[in-house]
Amino acid sequence: MPKKQSPDIFQTLRKDAFGALEEASDFEAVRKAEAEYLGKAGRLTNILKSLKDLAEQERKEMGSTANALKKEIEEKIRIKKSEFTKTSRHPESRRIDVSIPGKKILRGHLHPISRVLKEVAAIFESMGFEIVEGPEVETEYYNFDALNIPKDHPARDLWDTFWIKPLTSRLLLRTHTSPMEVRYMEKNNPPLRIIAPGRCFRHEATDASHEHTFYQIEGLMVGKNVTLANLKGFLTVFMKRFYGEKVKLRWQPSFFPFVEPGLELLMACSVCEGKGCSVCGGSGWLEVIPCGMTHPEVFKAAGYNPKEWQGFAFGMGLDRIAMMKYKIDDIRLFYSADLRFIKQF
Ligand code: PHE
Repeated sequence: MPKKQSPDIFQTLRKDAFGALEEASDFEAVRKAEAEYLGKAGRLTNILKSLKDLAEQERKEMGSTANALKKEIEEKIRIKKSEFTKTSRHPESRRIDVSIPGKKILRGHLHPISRVLKEVAAIFESMGFEIVEGPEVETEYYNFDALNIPKDHPARDLWDTFWIKPLTSRLLLRTHTSPMEVRYMEKNNPPLRIIAPGRCFRHEATDASHEHTFYQIEGLMVGKNVTLANLKGFLTVFMKRFYGEKVKLRWQPSFFPFVEPGLELLMACSVCEGKGCSVCGGSGWLEVIPCGMTHPEVFKAAGYNPKEWQGFAFGMGLDRIAMMKYKIDDIRLFYSADLRFIKQF
């Protein structure tokens, strides 16, 4: 018959166990204490084993005290261990379970507009063009006046403008990337070749081929002998490299106050293959690159002598270029944030 266990045996045990754990200064010490109290022949384990020989009432009382203490000690051990696994160099803290299946890494990808912009830029860079950028919030001067579009001139109606505080500041959201032409020329001497990609804004109703927010890439080349033949040559080379040799092109006259003469480069609509659809307005052709020879007034605004310098400029609609590349029939898809669309690229 084992001796009747007095309740203060638990108190002593508790004090000893907590004392040892409190003092434990590394993982190994915690493990030692764990073995001493809860191990196979541990002090608390032995007490629990001996309970079976006690009378029922006593066994119940002692049992519940012993079990409560066991839980308490286990919890303390858990806390102590986690303290050391966080900070210690114990091997257990660095154990890696190589059998756990790996987590799939989700990779993003470029938006179709970014992708097309990169491709277009690379082609022009290879032809000696430098890439420059400018502000989206523009002054009336660079967006209009410097481009030979004076105040109250009816040509301003070509661009429905988002004005910012119209009565005070005459600031606006640029309606095209052409302001970059004069901005760049003011600070740099000719000869030059630049492209200026960027976001533009127009206060107008949207449809399958028009958005209020869209991308353009401005191009400008200035030199002593830059001619219309150069303009047509560079843009034709670009189109063939971008769409392939077989691309069908057409030129037609156009008007923009900052060029003379003004042209429009059209390509056969790739969505309907020239048959006519909502993207090309039923004509089978789509205007993709408005362009022309730089107007002498623009050179004057930039401080260049128009008798000495000649140049060409273009303002490619990047969204349309991308629509034709991927046969996309609605420009609004680009900015819809619809993942079913975006994920296809
Ligand atoms: N900036 C003009 C537009 O957005 C396009 C253009 C650029 C035309 C350069 C000619 C030369 O409408």
